[in-house]
Amino acid sequence: MRATVLFLLLCASALAQSIQFDPARKVWLLTTSDSSYAMGVSSDGSLLNLYWGAPLWRLADLPTAAQRRDISSFDPRQMLENEEYPGWGGPRYYEPALKITREDGDRDLVLHYVSHHIQNDSLDITLKDINDPIEVILHYQLFPDYGLIRRNATVNNKTSKSVIIESAQSAVWNLPPGNGYQLTYLTGRWAGETQVTHEPIRPGQIVLESRKGHTSHYFNPWFAIDAGNTNEVSGPVWFGALGWSGNWRITVEQTAYAQVRVAGGFNSFDFAYPLAAGQSLDTPLFYGGFSQHGYGQASRILHKFEREKLLPGGLESRLRPVLYNSWEATTFNVTEAGQEALADKAAPLGIELFVIDDGWFGARNDDHAGLGDWVVNPKKFPNGLKPLIDHVNHLGMDFGLWVEPEMVNPNSDLYRAHPDWAINFPGRPRSELRNQLILNLARDDVKEHIFHVLDKLASDYNIKYFKWDMNRSFSEPGWPEAGGPNERKLWVQYVRNLYEILDRLRAAHPKLEIEDCSGGGGRVDVEAIRRADEVWTSDNTDAFDRLRIQEGFTYAYAPKIMSAWVTDVPNMNTRSTPLTTRFLVAMQGALGIGANLNKWTPQDFALATRMIGIYKRIRKTVQTGDLYRLANPRTSDTTVTQYVASDGAQSVIFATRHSQQYNTAAPTIYLRGLDPKATYKLDSVDNKLVEKQGTLSGAYLMNRGLNVNLRGDFDATAIILDRQ
Ligand code: DGJ
Repeated sequence: MRATVLFLLLCASALAQSIQFDPARKVWLLTTSDSSYAMGVSSDGSLLNLYWGAPLWRLADLPTAAQRRDISSFDPRQMLENEEYPGWGGPRYYEPALKITREDGDRDLVLHYVSHHIQNDSLDITLKDINDPIEVILHYQLFPDYGLIRRNATVNNKTSKSVIIESAQSAVWNLPPGNGYQLTYLTGRWAGETQVTHEPIRPGQIVLESRKGHTSHYFNPWFAIDAGNTNEVSGPVWFGALGWSGNWRITVEQTAYAQVRVAGGFNSFDFAYPLAAGQSLDTPLFYGGFSQHGYGQASRILHKFEREKLLPGGLESRLRPVLYNSWEATTFNVTEAGQEALADKAAPLGIELFVIDDGWFGARNDDHAGLGDWVVNPKKFPNGLKPLIDHVNHLGMDFGLWVEPEMVNPNSDLYRAHPDWAINFPGRPRSELRNQLILNLARDDVKEHIFHVLDKLASDYNIKYFKWDMNRSFSEPGWPEAGGPNERKLWVQYVRNLYEILDRLRAAHPKLEIEDCSGGGGRVDVEAIRRADEVWTSDNTDAFDRLRIQEGFTYAYAPKIMSAWVTDVPNMNTRSTPLTTRFLVAMQGALGIGANLNKWTPQDFALATRMIGIYKRIRKTVQTGDLYRLANPRTSDTTVTQYVASDGAQSVIFATRHSQQYNTAAPTIYLRGLDPKATYKLDSVDNKLVEKQGTLSGAYLMNRGLNVNLRGDFDATAIILDRQ
């Protein structure tokens, strides 16, 4: 008994300190609620990773960082040592964390430990090249209650000459030595984002990246690695999320010595960043975590952190309102009368935010003209936007406006006045995508112009919400004014200035909310969402496709920010799904309506009013509760997601059956995250529960499970459990 108490006391005192350091052996142990991370300095001064995994508490257990021996002249010791942040120098053949070229052509860079500084939950370790004052500060910020470590690096050129940085990663994460690891990542394309992809890690590299100037639909900057025996509920998962809304790269590499490492940061493709004497470069923030309880827990760790620490306002931010967006109803044909008519129909449904999309400005009658001219179109809105906004506000709704500030149509007054503002290589063609070019935000004059346009709109009108769109990827990324070697800084400076505009706008208008959209989910990452209240998940609103897109989205991002609309059918595919099903799929995130209300029947309005009422009853649980993915659309004919309120008072289950075959029953649903001893009162949408008993215990619900009567194609229900 006494020994147990002593053990617990020891653990408690060690864990009270999130960062422990042993000066004699130069070993650090970093510990959060769900993980530990350890490093040490070897005898030659290299900073080596010693551990990443489930929480440890005893610093003395850790070995000293040992210098290894060469195996052969082809297998140098450096390839066996798990360096925290290897420069490209010496006999190192894996993906480097930092690669530079000096003015005289010397490219060798070997980084050794110099010093460190611990302050509360943060640790800075300074490394320096063995010859030159090229210095790197590695930043480790712990979020002890959230189970996450944030890493990035600052490269300081303390030499008297300029160097070119050819690759600058934020961090390298070393997995415990071993084979048989599996990688999960999110791939996609426009209208098909965040598809869960899972594959074995074999010798060589798997590269996840964007070369498109924005985060991109192709890959999302998130990864998860398991040891081969992990599923949604059990087994170890090492995961990370990189925050960079431009060209990024995550390289997952297994060396010939069965060492798996993940390097992530700026994409080294077309990267050449000159750093003059005395200048520095900060790399993007890269969050890493570990779950002992499968992919579900890995996602929940990220969700909680995003909700409480990343999203603007964090814990204080409001629940996402139910919005109406008129894009699919009216496309570019917006008029004051038409929008007011839609607002009149939206308000009685329980809509809280009315958003006009594209088409309200300049000569914007289709996608060929007007982008860049952010003045209200006088034909469509003869009295400006104020009468419409007043109308919307009188109906009890907030008003939101679509903008696409980074873009310009060549057929626009802005382009005619400033053709040089568009990204370009002089004398070369400028590829137009959707008839538009990208304004070079890396330029200060462009940055200021965009800020002032948006600041004026937000000051002139009672706008609660901007839907900030970005509808094409970069091409021909020239910045002639920057001159020669500085041109490629565009990749970095564009993104930094984008963040600056958003930060300044939010500071100037603290109540303004922003939806981050890039043709759907083309700019979703953990840095973008620090400036966005919600994100447009995908332009694809087909309920069946959405199940997979939404499943993948929730691997990395919280349901609260996952904007999901109910639209008309068919949409995207030729499929028709019942309106109830469309609602139940969209209600799994931040609900919106994007349908053409002018075409709805009285029955549709009645159903929508009822469903929005149900959503408001469960919204807090969906948006701020814990998510459990009980069955996924990839491997089951029924997708089931469960949300448990943070206080345990409510739980909601959404079950969508895609395709009944062979007259089978829908699979039994085994709930999770409930209190086995508590009892819950059950209610289901359209009475689809097979169980007739109105109240069941948590133990029964989790162990015996529930059965739902879902038949045919795209039958769906939601079950609401209120704790008694
Ligand atoms: C792409 C967005 O994803 C859509 O929702 C809509 O806003 C259009 N752009 C408008 O051009």
